[in-house]
Amino acid sequence: MRVLVTGGAGYIGSVVAAQLVEAGHDVVVLDDLSTGHADAVPAGARLVEGGIREHAQAVMAEQGTEAVLHFAARSVVPESVAHPDRYWDGNVGCSLALLEAMRVCGVGRIVFSSTAAVYGEPETVPIPEDAPVRPGNPYGATKAAIDAALTEHARMHGIGAVSLRYFNVAGAYAGLGERHTTETHLIPIVLQVARGLRESVSVYGADYPTPDGTCVRDYIHVADLAEAHLLALEHCRPGAHRVFNLGNGTGFSVREVIEVCREVTGHPVPVVAAGRRAGDPATLVASSERARAELGWVPRRPGLREIVADAWAFHTAHPGPAAGAEPRA
Ligand code: UFG
Repeated sequence: MRVLVTGGAGYIGSVVAAQLVEAGHDVVVLDDLSTGHADAVPAGARLVEGGIREHAQAVMAEQGTEAVLHFAARSVVPESVAHPDRYWDGNVGCSLALLEAMRVCGVGRIVFSSTAAVYGEPETVPIPEDAPVRPGNPYGATKAAIDAALTEHARMHGIGAVSLRYFNVAGAYAGLGERHTTETHLIPIVLQVARGLRESVSVYGADYPTPDGTCVRDYIHVADLAEAHLLALEHCRPGAHRVFNLGNGTGFSVREVIEVCREVTGHPVPVVAAGRRAGDPATLVASSERARAELGWVPRRPGLREIVADAWAFHTAHPGPAAGAEPRA
């Protein structure tokens, strides 16, 4: 299939692009390289550097695009709390421009990177897809808005759309891993501490209603997550917007994650107690029964140790700040 991957130079987009190339698809990556890396675009995919508003329509017309996988987005919860306008413009505005370009070019399928953050503080854990959408931060609100737009575009224009709601993605695949200029995610930060690139990790809040007081998350291997995208591509149905949660169904607290990182790396990880981080729900754990039943998705690397070990192998293979480290304070 001829596929356009927006954000394919980023962490998750590049892993999916690599798997698409391996599966024999014709892949064009559109990425403005604001947070992505040109060298993360797999050999065999073509990179067009630039924004969705400026380039998506021309790229689709030129490629004869049959499906879009849409990763390009801002995705840092604390930043979204501080600068919500960036998220409404960068996430919602660009996604609407992408949908319009698809309509003009007659592209009939889209797989979209949605998020567990649309559920806010859930009533039911593990969280099913029909749980109320009540985002607790602007990042989640923008993703929920795009999900709503996809429902409407499927109804109005007959496209087949799939939203994949990611829980906490980690690990690495084929030399592709997380390397954000400013890292905010727990596992890469802890691994930077283990490497001696940071003094310590701050634990944001120990007074949540969870067994050890720290936030509980469902960690999923990026390669398993990527495989779900290839399945979703095959399961787009004209006129329908389908939604799937992607997680392993097991929650780990911040303290448990840090302990697994200590075990995997064999290094000490000093911890500093800190206050709660704005926008963090206490517990996010997925029910992925729907993805298993309807997509035939089976996560093959569900263990947190394996996820951390793959992330660690990536981090140790990438020197210094290229792995997203900030200078030692
Ligand atoms: N945390 C710390 N210290 C750190 C970094 C994180 O204690 O230095 C804590 C956070 O407060 C949170 C947990 O570790 O409780 C996980 O935080 P991450 O930043 O790794 O991930 P989030 O759960 O905030 O966010 C991730 C994605 C979002 C997505 C969300 C949905 O980054 O895009 O999962 O669960 F929306």
